[in-house]
Amino acid sequence: MMPARASAPGKVILLGEHAVVYGQPALAVPVTHVQATATVTPLPAGTADIWIEAQDLGRRYPLAAAHPQDPLAVAARLVLERCAPGAARPGFTLSVRSTIPIASGLGSGAAVCTAVVRALAAALGQAPDAAAVSDLVYETEKLLHGTPSGIDNTVIAYGQPVFFVRGQPPEPFRVAAPFQLLIADTGLASPTKVAVGDVRAAWQREPAPFQARFDAIGALVRAARAHLEAGQPEALGPLMTRNHTLLRELTVSCAELDALVDAAQAAGALGAKLSGGGRGGNMIALVTAATAARVETALRQAGATRVLATRVGTEDR
Ligand code: PMV
Repeated sequence: MMPARASAPGKVILLGEHAVVYGQPALAVPVTHVQATATVTPLPAGTADIWIEAQDLGRRYPLAAAHPQDPLAVAARLVLERCAPGAARPGFTLSVRSTIPIASGLGSGAAVCTAVVRALAAALGQAPDAAAVSDLVYETEKLLHGTPSGIDNTVIAYGQPVFFVRGQPPEPFRVAAPFQLLIADTGLASPTKVAVGDVRAAWQREPAPFQARFDAIGALVRAARAHLEAGQPEALGPLMTRNHTLLRELTVSCAELDALVDAAQAAGALGAKLSGGGRGGNMIALVTAATAARVETALRQAGATRVLATRVGTEDR
């Protein structure tokens, strides 16, 4: 076993959340300004214990004593089973830390587990590909979210913009011209699981109108991908705003998110929408160099507790 370290980015869903649960496509992009990092440090020979250190939470505990649903422990055990089944190995400390805000739709759980999978696999001399990492992390996502579509683990493990359809191989795609997003937090924690369950109950009560909204969202996603690949990111704006309206109709917005979306638009954003599970968490606004500062100020005045700026489509992304 060797010392190893690995990182993984956060993510935002550009368009398609909720409808993606019903087979429609969604687009998600990595947010590289925030990162989760995992470090594996082998312990001296003769020590077989495995320790987990969650630095941000100030917690250190033995793997053997971890809660059965602890995602870090589940990720570590899965990697040990897959990469070194039955092997005798020295003890080690698996230390994680993250700058990704938690419980706000930025994929912090999936990112931490992705970093753990990569670091531990590397320490065991292996380098699983993005698909294998994504599959392992999906197992941990299920602990937290019930039946997640898998979009978080996919975009984070691939580290590239992805066109994602549940149950199909993801399609990483190229953003031909970069664009700028502001990601603003309502400060409200909202469990994705609850919003997903409420949409399901509403869809079961009134299948036709809900199905029509899912289909309409799918059409927006396909159009958005075409614009991004053609180097027309500004065309995303109206599609985002329309997607927000449809998400409101799916009952997953809230007054705080609507206020941020309205404020962004009034301040000159090309488009804005909630991102992720909704009912709180984050929204995104498409901005340009000329409007970014003004929109950021407007978002803070409208109640955003944090605003992150990110650029999508730089380098090879
Ligand atoms: O809250 P997030 O960012 O993990 O996004 C959830 C996305 C949903 O489409 C609402 C659920 C899912 O599993 O895809």
